[in-house]
Amino acid sequence: MSNKFCAVSISDILTVVDQVNFDIYIKLGEKTIKLEHQDNDAKDRLTAYKEKGLKTVFVNKEQYTAFLKAHSKNLKDKFFSPEKKVPPEDMVQALDRSYDLTKKAFQNLGINETTVEMAQEIHKESLRVMQATPNVFKFFTRFKKNAGPEFLKSMLTSYTFTSIVDTFDWSSDVLKEKTALATMLCDVLLEGDEIEAAKNRAGIPKESLPEKILNHPKDTVKLINKASNQNLVSRETVLIIEQHHEKPDGSGYPVGIRGPAINILSACYIIADHFIELCYEHKFREEDIDDILDRLVSLYGSGNFKKALKALHSLID
Ligand SMILES: [Fe+2]
Repeated sequence: MSNKFCAVSISDILTVVDQVNFDIYIKLGEKTIKLEHQDNDAKDRLTAYKEKGLKTVFVNKEQYTAFLKAHSKNLKDKFFSPEKKVPPEDMVQALDRSYDLTKKAFQNLGINETTVEMAQEIHKESLRVMQATPNVFKFFTRFKKNAGPEFLKSMLTSYTFTSIVDTFDWSSDVLKEKTALATMLCDVLLEGDEIEAAKNRAGIPKESLPEKILNHPKDTVKLINKASNQNLVSRETVLIIEQHHEKPDGSGYPVGIRGPAINILSACYIIADHFIELCYEHKFREEDIDDILDRLVSLYGSGNFKKALKALHSLID
């Protein structure tokens, strides 16, 4: 399909097919079938294709935003309104679906009002669930079966990052929204295994990293710069994206700047990301917390990292 079309999961399209006036394209080998909205049997035909194993359909790029808005509204009405009293497990599941959709929306449409609003909604609702749980260890144990690994890790990192930032007296709700958007966008151009490889814990020299990984911070900033409304993404968010793989000893990428030159917000993100990484390594055993913190102290003892680590300590004590 040409880039005039966006791929959408057939399950997601079925949930909004009655609400939105759009045509759906189905690719079967070399053949493309168009289901027009006015076809009375569009829903039945889609259901039949789904039962036969079809997973993805296509919608016109212009109609894709209408699809996203309808989908977000459904999730909001069903799961995210506080008076609904939805079990947290179902909320996490809904947020996971919403995260997938939002990530694809950023890849398909770039940065616009709709995509940024979707990312903010996920952050707000994730925070609501996380704040009702005592800590990341208990959260992981309770919800690990309700979300895919990418979203779960992103949620835990985002929560830790926001909590670290919130310990500083210069923190504000506006700033926390900016940091949350950074967490969503840092790896928006990468998929599962690439996100893990991009952490480069093995310390591969940057010259030997695959281009896509080496360039993803810069490519994400390029995506942001293409937005027609430049006010949607703040300078702070861009800085975190640019620096999120830099390391205090200068062995990071894409630039290789050293500890003191790494901004405090970026340092908070890097610490939060590595903290969650180590929690996974330790299988979220709460009794291993001292080992996890000692490891971070051995790696991040300079510049703004010291302040970020002190903040993390204060959250755990
Ligand atoms: Fe990254």
